[in-house]
Amino acid sequence: MVIDDACTEQPAGAPGPAPDGPARDEAGGQAIRVRGLRKCYGRVEAVRGLDLTVRRGEIAALLGPNGAGKTTTVEILEGHRSRTSGDVQVLGADPRRPTREWRARIGLVLQSTQMPAELTVGELVARFAAFYPSPRDVDETIELVGLTAKRRARAGRLSGGQQRRLDVALALVGDPELVFLDEPTTGFDPQARRQAWSMIDTLRTLSKTVLLTTHYLDEAEALADRIAVVVDGRIAAEGTPATLGGRDSAPCEVRFCRPERLDPAVLDLVAASAEGSLTVVGGVVTLRTADPAGVLGPLLDWARAHGTELPGLEVRRPSLEDVYLAITGGLGARRSARRLEDSR
Ligand SMILES: Nc1ncnc2c1ncn2[C@@H]1O[C@H](COP(=O)(O)OP(=O)(O)O)[C@@H](O)[C@H]1O
Ligand SMILES: [Mg+2]
Repeated sequence: MVIDDACTEQPAGAPGPAPDGPARDEAGGQAIRVRGLRKCYGRVEAVRGLDLTVRRGEIAALLGPNGAGKTTTVEILEGHRSRTSGDVQVLGADPRRPTREWRARIGLVLQSTQMPAELTVGELVARFAAFYPSPRDVDETIELVGLTAKRRARAGRLSGGQQRRLDVALALVGDPELVFLDEPTTGFDPQARRQAWSMIDTLRTLSKTVLLTTHYLDEAEALADRIAVVVDGRIAAEGTPATLGGRDSAPCEVRFCRPERLDPAVLDLVAASAEGSLTVVGGVVTLRTADPAGVLGPLLDWARAHGTELPGLEVRRPSLEDVYLAITGGLGARRSARRLEDSR
């Protein structure tokens, strides 16, 4: 692998861009602004020129396969990891030089944590609260994460899902403006995941800014206002769950079982007028078109006029999974090729 000059580590105290005051990040409405972020671990280039903006009050997800560089990026933004190069502003300051005040405005849930097992939930949350200048109410915070019944339970006795909720309580008790959640539900059973999702959703009602990482598509789709797909240390695509990868404008598939009376010539006409492509396999008609209304209108008119239906009618837009695979497939393949070259 060729590592360019930019991969020489900048010393921690090196002068970087002047930190912005809170006034500018508030005026700009940006909680996080990253430009050209790079991080090398020796010869491994984990982050390779990543750009990201997260607006205030937004729940943003970094979605990507394992090893894509999500945790590295988040740890740099949290001020827990040095970067090789790039410009990073988090709540108007450079996390390379974190102040106590800045830290108090940020809540973290790390990818893995370990709490003193002998302390109770209530004791831990109260101890963390004491670190912050204006913490949330301890009981209220425990309730927010759904652990009220476990207030007197020792941390070491909690289930995996309950421990993760405790992690979130500890991240929230300082009443942060910005919360980082690294893989908040990895290893959860489906029920615990749903509970965690509804808890994360309540952060929206508290007007928090949230940056979460996940490799679950459904999690990003359920929670995020905006998704940035990280592949190979870069943002490969960005958008809302509905628009990511051009999902909203991509061709749809209109499908139904062909009624016997429906003349193939009519189908050809409908497909042509909507600039769609037509296949009929085993009596199932599939029309691929960017103008689904253009095919549905005439087809439904035909069905009404003939007193019949279009059995099994469905209109399918590409799923988030379809666009995710399209986004990650090519780049993933390139990465594998590069690894092969490296190993030679
Ligand atoms: N402390 C480290 N030392 C060396 N390599 C690391 C370290 N942390 C992560 N990496 C490597 O950096 C790449 C990105 O890892 P990571 O940021 O953890 O990705 P993700 O969170 O998306 O799974 C991987 O190739 C990983 O092996
Ligand atoms: Mg990770």
